[in-house]
Amino acid sequence: MRKNIVAGNWKMNKTLQEGLALATELNEVLAGASLKCDVVIGTPFIHLASVTAAVDTKVVGVAAQNCAAKESGAYTGEVSAAMVKSTGAEYVILGHSERREYYGETSTILNDKVALALANGLTPIYCCGEALEVRNANEQNAFVKTQLDETVFNLSAEDFAKIVIAYEPIWAIGTGVTASTEQAQDMLAYIRGLIVDKFGKEMAENTSILYGGSCNAKNAPELFSQPDIDGGLIGGASLKVADFKAIIDAF
Ligand code: PGA
Repeated sequence: MRKNIVAGNWKMNKTLQEGLALATELNEVLAGASLKCDVVIGTPFIHLASVTAAVDTKVVGVAAQNCAAKESGAYTGEVSAAMVKSTGAEYVILGHSERREYYGETSTILNDKVALALANGLTPIYCCGEALEVRNANEQNAFVKTQLDETVFNLSAEDFAKIVIAYEPIWAIGTGVTASTEQAQDMLAYIRGLIVDKFGKEMAENTSILYGGSCNAKNAPELFSQPDIDGGLIGGASLKVADFKAIIDAF
């Protein structure tokens, strides 16, 4: 059975001290609580080792927000999947639209990153989602299908079983404009249908698919009540414990 997951994406926010305080407070609030979902926080690289040491990673899983497309070597400024894993982090967010748009991450690059993440025992949280023009032209399904066809749908079934998918329409990220519950459910059901076609029904039933984009305490209960929405990838609302906890409690 697939897991419900609420994953925070801190993006480029919080100094090390601020991040440690946030992670520690979250861990305290969640420890001992009976939760209906797994909780993950995606921190900047420099926070990873300190945060994994400060929290119980069974309560608060830890994710990097990226990893290098190369294994190791002369790539100044890059951080490899093996390095991420060595911090105690278990997840890595890959293919976020901000990485695709601002850092030119193509499907080819993302295939290398996903492969290295998996080879190093990390769980990729693989992001997809369309821009506003694509949605306005009603071409979102074809667009997302291409993003998946070019990347994670080429994985072996054994590897695909290890990934989490996050659908994040770009027009909903950080804008305060959430996809309607119907738009989110429709797309996630569509993606699950694509997984059925590619890998079969059992795989589709076992794949966690998250919604992301201006998800907050107010809209999370309705979003998470949908049959195909297995949780959220949360940006802004993951930066305060009370806001993030309210989303976690939406299950
Ligand atoms: P947001 O970001 O919740 O601030 O819209 C979501 C994301 O980009 O992962």
